[in-house]
Amino acid sequence: MQNNPDQFSSKIGFVLAAAGSAVGIGNLVGFPVAAAKNGGGAFLLLYIFFVIAICLPLILAELSLGRATNQNPLGAFRQVSRNHKAWVLAGALSLITPFMIAVFYSVLTVWLLGYFLLVLIGQLDQLATPVYFGGFITSPWIFACLAAVIGMVIVVLKGGVRDGIEKASRLLMPMLFIMLIGLAVFVLTLPNATAGLKFYFTPQLDRITWSVVNGALSQAFFSLSLGMGILITYGSYLRKQDNLVQSAKMLACTDTGVALVAGLMTLPAIFAIYPNTNPSELSDSSVGLIFSFFPNIFMAMVPKFGYAVSSLIAATFFLLAFVAAITSLVSIIEVPVAALKAEGKKTRNAALGIVIAAVSIGAMFSALSFGQVKWLSDFAFYSGANKSLFDVLVDVFYDTILPFNGLLICLLVVWQWKRHNMTAEMLTSNKNAASGWLERYTHFAIAFWIPLILATVFVVTV
Ligand code: PFF
Repeated sequence: MQNNPDQFSSKIGFVLAAAGSAVGIGNLVGFPVAAAKNGGGAFLLLYIFFVIAICLPLILAELSLGRATNQNPLGAFRQVSRNHKAWVLAGALSLITPFMIAVFYSVLTVWLLGYFLLVLIGQLDQLATPVYFGGFITSPWIFACLAAVIGMVIVVLKGGVRDGIEKASRLLMPMLFIMLIGLAVFVLTLPNATAGLKFYFTPQLDRITWSVVNGALSQAFFSLSLGMGILITYGSYLRKQDNLVQSAKMLACTDTGVALVAGLMTLPAIFAIYPNTNPSELSDSSVGLIFSFFPNIFMAMVPKFGYAVSSLIAATFFLLAFVAAITSLVSIIEVPVAALKAEGKKTRNAALGIVIAAVSIGAMFSALSFGQVKWLSDFAFYSGANKSLFDVLVDVFYDTILPFNGLLICLLVVWQWKRHNMTAEMLTSNKNAASGWLERYTHFAIAFWIPLILATVFVVTV
């Protein structure tokens, strides 16, 4: 077991790989956008509450489930429910979800690569205009970038878990974090930035609505890579002597830390660069908007540092953000690959080939849904607007399904697996130690208010 190439070589290796999965576009773009749209401080408060009260126990549940069964999500659901049909179906949802997320996430990753390349060739000033952004995401170059991204994913995944994912995460994640802090400090020197700071840190409780609650919950799930089988899969690569509780805490802290610092950079920047914009009015297409907004932060550096240096800083940022996105993308794709390998009795290479082909086709469709192909850009009509395939995927799999999958995990643990088995699995590495607050809290909350809160949010917001 010790030399299994699909096992993490050390606890820190796991934490880094899990952090590599968790830290991604969700932290750098998703969190600041969600915070800006959902009332700043009120959102921040809810977000932190959900990370501690709901997500930490669920991280532990997923990791324990993975390690105890040594299975992919479908296998884990099947094993603990003793092949019960409904639960196998629920397990299948834990495979479809990462697949669908990979389909839209790869498009965002492609944009970051494109930004990096465009800044390198001196186009930072043009990138800062929304018109240019619209042109860029519909240009044929996107497909060249997509091919490059898919190629990189294959290279990392072929290296196996230890060599591929661990190594990529080890050096670049800390660099990204340091860079974010530096950028946040710079942004705070801009005029009107303190208004953004105030907005970010003042919880206006009257702004909390169900949609804000749902926004914070979905963002927390997405950011921590919860509810999509990734932590079950990674749990199955953990060794019995690894301390799950410590790993879960480190994962939650790292991921939340990066998101908070990204917010610290972005929200004051929105106020400084667009002093007349009401951030709550950011439209639904704001993922795109915020993408075109980032170059503006670097353009604001030009008077101080000159165009060349600002472009260099921008290029470094987009490169690091791109690496963060790739490590996340790799981890999502790992879920269906591991499942197909085990369930379909395929070799790892065959499973990888099939999943990559399917994700590439899906990604091409979603990349073509920004006006180039009509039926893809008018894919559905709801909430009074035409929605593109890309939007539908985000709405369904980011906004709705993740907390629902979390609910299924709670019910599986409580009804099928039984909580004492989960708690025993959590404690395998430190049997002699008394269980800490988190184990005790998890044991209790997973049967009571976590499912209650998740079910309520799901019912009210669907
Ligand atoms: N957590 C990643 C982010 O915040 O960008 C996104 C992600 C990674 C989602 C891995 C899903 C996943 F399995």
